[in-house]
Amino acid sequence: MPITPTHFVNWFRDSAPYIHAHRNKTFVIFFSGETIMDNCDDLIHDLSLLKSLGIRLVLVHGIRPQIDQRLKQQNICSDFHKNLRITDDLALQCVKEAAGLVRVEIEALLSMGLANSPMAGAKIKVASGNFITAKPLGIIDGIDYQHTGQVRRIEHLAIHQQLDQDNVILISPIGYSPSGEIFNLAAEQVATEVAIALKAEKLILLTENSYTKDQQLIQQMTTEEAKSLLQQDISSTLFHSLNAAIQSCQHGVNRVHLINRKIDGALLLELFTRDGTGTLISATPFESIRPANLNDIAGILELIKPLERQGILVKRSREKLEMQINDYIVIERDGLIIGCTAYHLMQETGAAEIACLAIHPEYQKSARGNNLLDHLVKKAKKQQLSMLFVLSTQTMHWFIERGFKETEIQALPEQRQEFYNYKRNAKVLCKKI
Ligand SMILES: CC(C)(COP(=O)(O)OP(=O)(O)OC[C@H]1O[C@@H](n2cnc3c(N)ncnc32)[C@H](O)[C@@H]1OP(=O)(O)O)[C@@H](O)C(=O)NCCC(=O)NCCS
Repeated sequence: MPITPTHFVNWFRDSAPYIHAHRNKTFVIFFSGETIMDNCDDLIHDLSLLKSLGIRLVLVHGIRPQIDQRLKQQNICSDFHKNLRITDDLALQCVKEAAGLVRVEIEALLSMGLANSPMAGAKIKVASGNFITAKPLGIIDGIDYQHTGQVRRIEHLAIHQQLDQDNVILISPIGYSPSGEIFNLAAEQVATEVAIALKAEKLILLTENSYTKDQQLIQQMTTEEAKSLLQQDISSTLFHSLNAAIQSCQHGVNRVHLINRKIDGALLLELFTRDGTGTLISATPFESIRPANLNDIAGILELIKPLERQGILVKRSREKLEMQINDYIVIERDGLIIGCTAYHLMQETGAAEIACLAIHPEYQKSARGNNLLDHLVKKAKKQQLSMLFVLSTQTMHWFIERGFKETEIQALPEQRQEFYNYKRNAKVLCKKI
């Protein structure tokens, strides 16, 4: 279907809040060696777009298949223990070759800028270097990992300096020791440690699959849920990604996204649309918007009573709330009701009334009110309504700033006009859907 100008304009406008939110934030993005082996031009274009939108980009790449390829050419097979390669002298040589080659290939892709191509005018400068200090992993369960190492320190100040100079950072899974030794590192562990050291806003791991349960995408996971998945029989790549996510969340990275790299534009969808395409893992307890049930009544009353006393909300009895509970939508955070609203549908008139919108004072000004309103607008669109309206005495401007217009009482559905309280004298605001 061709994109109409209206579609384009609406889509572009809808991305604006995300563009503002991500600007000047540091994102660490990991992609595997397999990604480089496939055609990754589109991914590189998307990364270049993120850079041009002001995101501070740190890229960490893997090299596993490139190492395997080199070993195979010599008829050698690596031994693995606990999903990690045991890097002997020969394997280390392959690691060095693979890392050099992959880095150069990525740098070349990031340097593209032909006229009329997606990267025209991008002029990306890439900085790589000895940002990772490593130490040997040592001997575990009696097995000597030889040149396989683990991260000891990240030169985070040096990386931030490079980011301040508008460079994209490219990091290979190689670390150096103060004695000049080279270590083969797990790229996911490098990405994790880098994200933690930089206090990155996000760690994004491009994975080989989407994470699903009963064929449905798992959109969110707590670190606890991720940990229990780790106990199950899972692939090595999933193991590394989940482990990275858990470690990062436990050490202060707020958001870790696992995104299926095989979905075209998955990175952009995840970062610039509300629903995304990936799995978000976060340490903090989740908040969700959901329909209310009878168990929420005490929480809703606690939230709205002070506002009723101030005359901001109309008084509602517990009985009335119980009767209309199916009209209510709440925001639950860690078991607490911190926001609510009601959506009274008048189907035959093609309209619905928004009422009882409230966000707990401690949680205001973080777009939660906005999110509830968005939720209702979506619901109204789905039900093909033509109008949403609200009666307000003190919050008119909040609604006006979100596309509502003041209107006459006569514009209300007749059944609602009958119950209009002239003593309260609320303004009528409506939004066309
Ligand atoms: C109105 C309300 C639901 C907004 O919730 P929220 O989660 O803070 O909403 P958002 O984060 O999207 O919006 C915050 C913005 O709205 C503004 N705002 C809050 N109350 C407002 C009001 N009465 N009039 C105009 N703007 C208002 C805030 O100042 C903030 O703007 P700023 O960041 O520019 O300073 C919340 O303030 C509330 O519960 N108010 C008391 C109950 C109420 O008035 N309900 C409406 C009944 S009709």
